Amino acid sequence: MKVLASRRTPGPAWDELDDVEIADAWPPRGPQPGVEAIVVANELVDAKVLALLPDLRLVANFGAGYDALDVTACRERGVVVTNTPDVLTDATADLALGLILAVRRRIVEGDRLLREGRWRSQWSAGPFLGRDLGGSTLGIVGMGRIGSAVARRAEAFGMRVVQHSRTGGIPLDELLGEADVVSLHAPLTPDTERLLSRERLGLLRDGATLVNTARGALVDEDALVEELESGRISAGLDVFVHEPRVPERLLGLPNVVLTPHIGSATEETRAAMTRIVVDNILAVARGEAALTPVE
Ligand code: 8YV
Repeated sequence: MKVLASRRTPGPAWDELDDVEIADAWPPRGPQPGVEAIVVANELVDAKVLALLPDLRLVANFGAGYDALDVTACRERGVVVTNTPDVLTDATADLALGLILAVRRRIVEGDRLLREGRWRSQWSAGPFLGRDLGGSTLGIVGMGRIGSAVARRAEAFGMRVVQHSRTGGIPLDELLGEADVVSLHAPLTPDTERLLSRERLGLLRDGATLVNTARGALVDEDALVEELESGRISAGLDVFVHEPRVPERLLGLPNVVLTPHIGSATEETRAAMTRIVVDNILAVARGEAALTPVE
C-alpha cells in the first residue's frame, strides 16, 4: 500500500512500511494518485487536501487529538481516520503534573535565579515561596483518559480533585472559582474553542494556576496573556494557538512555565504511537478493519 507521510515518526515500527514517501510539503503541492494511506501529525486534512488524494483509504493520525482533520469530509469519501489513543495518556498526564509542580513550587524561577547568580541568602527566604500541592484543589476540565490519569496522580499528591466534563462533574464556572489549579484535558472542537473565554478566565481565583497540555485554542490566548501580565494568576503552558509561535509577551514573565508541545514526547510513548500508526496501515493493507478508528 502506497503511503505518503507528512514526516517520519519516531521508533522502529516505521521500518515495517515498505512503500512510504515523506512529503516535501504539507498539504502536498499537487495531486498524489496511487496514495492509499497518509500519515499526519494533526496537520490539515480537509476537503481540498482529500481532492489531491483520489485513491486514499486511510488517514493515520500520529496523536490522540485530530482537530485539524475534517473527519466528516473523510467519512463522506469513505476514508477511515485513526488516531493513537491510550499510549500517550501517562506521558501527557506526567507532563501536566510536571507543569503543576514547576509553577506551584517555582522550580523554573529558582533555576533561573541560580543561573543568573542572584542566589545570595543561605536558603531561599522571603518572597521566594511557592504553594503546597497537598490540601489544594485541582479542577480538571475534560475527564477522559488523560484527565482521569491526572486526577489519579494529583490525589497521590494530596490534592482535592473536582472535575467538569461533557458528561458530568460540576459546572465549569463553579470549578473555575473553586480551584487553585485548573488543568485542561478536553479535545478541541467547535464547542470547546475558547471554552476559557476572557470572562471565564476572570473567574479564576487570585493566585490560581492554569495548566494547558491539550490545545491552545481552548483558551482566549490574548486574554490569558493579559491575566498573566497582571500577575494575578500563573500558568504552565505546553500548547499555543499558533504553534510554533508563542506570544512574545509571555517570554519575560516569571509566573509562566513554557514547554514546546511535549506532552507525548518521550521515546517510549512516541515509539508506541508509531507502532499504532503502522499497525493501522498494515491492517487496512491486508483488507482488515483499522484498529483505532476515531468516533
Ligand atoms: C501531538 C498531541 O499530536 O496526541 C496529541 O493530541 O497533541 C501530540 O501527541 C504529537 O506530538 C504529534 O504532533
